[in-house]
Amino acid sequence: MMLQIPGVLGKGEVARLRALIDDADWTDGNVTSGFQSALAKQNRQLPEGSDDAREAGAAILAALERHPLFLSAALPARIFPPLFNRYGVGDGFGDHIDNAIRRDRDGRQLRTDLSATLFLTEPDDYDGGELTVDDTYGVHQVKLAAGDMILYPASSLHRVEAITRGARISSFFWIQSLVRDDARRALLFDMDLAIQRAGVGLGRGDAAVVSLTGAYHNLLRMWAET
Ligand code: NI
Repeated sequence: MMLQIPGVLGKGEVARLRALIDDADWTDGNVTSGFQSALAKQNRQLPEGSDDAREAGAAILAALERHPLFLSAALPARIFPPLFNRYGVGDGFGDHIDNAIRRDRDGRQLRTDLSATLFLTEPDDYDGGELTVDDTYGVHQVKLAAGDMILYPASSLHRVEAITRGARISSFFWIQSLVRDDARRALLFDMDLAIQRAGVGLGRGDAAVVSLTGAYHNLLRMWAET
């Protein structure tokens, strides 16, 4: 399931993070790629341990933890500390699938169930740079407003189209979900949305709403891995 998560960051918060990272010491992006993908990748990244990356990453994690749509869709068990990349003119990242396992700065391993890109540049400020994702429903080209995020299965083939004008700065990271299987996670998300809607229409105490909520939790209990 691919899902847009609007308004993860407000415009003011985007501006604050951009002021923090724009003048930081961007280095060759190949330091974080897997061996197989290094050749196809051309961009710059913020060093993982840098103070600016940590401060901006912490702000993003705090925003995600209070975003109901993200929490319902991703059912996060753990979120990899957000990284930051910058694609300038001529940069891009060819077709690849992200590594299955990532190790964070503290050596903890995380299974990448979901990949996320949080756009930090307005679409009018650059040409090219679309995130192109191939999934079972076809090919999707994604270019979102600054502050919006796309969530997609980390198992999907994807690429970043070459930039022909301006520069595209984004945050990217991975999520290990409580529910590893994409189809099960999508079903729980649909159910949760339906329960929210029914709760608004019928009232949270309505017997059908209570019963559906119970069914949701029993499915989650059956499928969750912590
Ligand atoms: Ni990737």
